[in-house]
Amino acid sequence: MSVEQIVSVIHALPMAVLLIGRDERVRAANPCVDAILGTDLVGKHYITALRQPAVIAAIGETQRSGAAQVVRYNGRSGPKDTVYKVSVAAADGDILLTFEDQTAAEEAGQMRRDFVANVSHELRTPLTALLGFIETLTGAARDDPAARDRFLGIMAHEANRMTRLVDDLMSLSRVEEDERVRPREHVDLAALLSSVIKGLEPQASAAGVTVTLDLMTSDEIVPGDAGQLVQVFTNLVENAIKYGASGGEVSVSLMPREMHQRLRREAVQVSVADRGDGIPEHHIARLTERFYRVDNHRSREVGGTGLGLAIVKHIINRHRGRLLIESAEGEGTKVSVFLPVSAVS
Ligand SMILES: Nc1ncnc2c1ncn2[C@@H]1O[C@H](COP(=O)(O)OP(=O)(O)OP(=O)(O)O)[C@@H](O)[C@H]1O
Ligand SMILES: [Mg+2]
Repeated sequence: MSVEQIVSVIHALPMAVLLIGRDERVRAANPCVDAILGTDLVGKHYITALRQPAVIAAIGETQRSGAAQVVRYNGRSGPKDTVYKVSVAAADGDILLTFEDQTAAEEAGQMRRDFVANVSHELRTPLTALLGFIETLTGAARDDPAARDRFLGIMAHEANRMTRLVDDLMSLSRVEEDERVRPREHVDLAALLSSVIKGLEPQASAAGVTVTLDLMTSDEIVPGDAGQLVQVFTNLVENAIKYGASGGEVSVSLMPREMHQRLRREAVQVSVADRGDGIPEHHIARLTERFYRVDNHRSREVGGTGLGLAIVKHIINRHRGRLLIESAEGEGTKVSVFLPVSAVS
């Protein structure tokens, strides 16, 4: 095949392909190669063009034995590390290199490993506590009724924490699963918010917090999934009660529909504001990551697993809405949810 023919064939391929001639120089490279190795490689010796010892060694091996090789190539794209699987094969006296992008697969693998590590860690803490108390109860505290009652109380608390974690994990995976399915119900937001607040009253009064509902409109019906929106506002109001308790009050407001620039359609806004300690700026963007907590210790004390806002974010994405977290240290936190009032195609 002439070089022109080879070039036109490899240009049509969707992955990076590079051909090295018998003279050990690059004979042809397609445009996908540019992003990985740079431009103007044709005519250069392959050692100068490729630079990575593993790849260079694989080429040498294929030249000697004719056998195909597979090696990793670690690259860089802007600030991001990239990984390619490079196949080196003999082709009629030339050597053909193909680069398959493995970056996304490696990232997914890393996320999965982090996730399992997080879950295990979150479960291990209460489990260790439970096992410790069981040991004490069957040993030293066996005949001490006062200690027994106290320990059983703590054990129930730890067991509840594990149950909540498992419930949250199930909920997260369900929400992720149907994120692409449009919600079909029509939800009366004012009624939904009233019932969420009513449900959280015992928790609020135990924390010494008053929750108020300010309805600036009372007949906003939006397309949505009622069960999921209950989950969203329950978590937001619960967070405001748990982490903003020092302010003593939480206000929930429902604002009438308005054109929303970012969503490019009309949307209603629901805000949950507290007058607590607020959240330091650098944490805000990360709050919707799974297991992310501002103050691990304090958050865990009040029973948080750090999955709430991750779930909220997925649900709002499913509704094609927007989540906005604003906070000023020492003044409080305001979390707003914008929900489109008409179904998005
Ligand atoms: N209103 C708030 N004021 C201060 N910090 C907050 C507020 N809301 C959330 N946070 C911080 O954000 C973190 C993440 O919240 P998120 O709801 O995701 O998890 P959680 O409440 O800890 O656990 P879960 O909701 O799963 O029970 C919390 O741990 C807390 O540190
Ligand atoms: Mg929460």
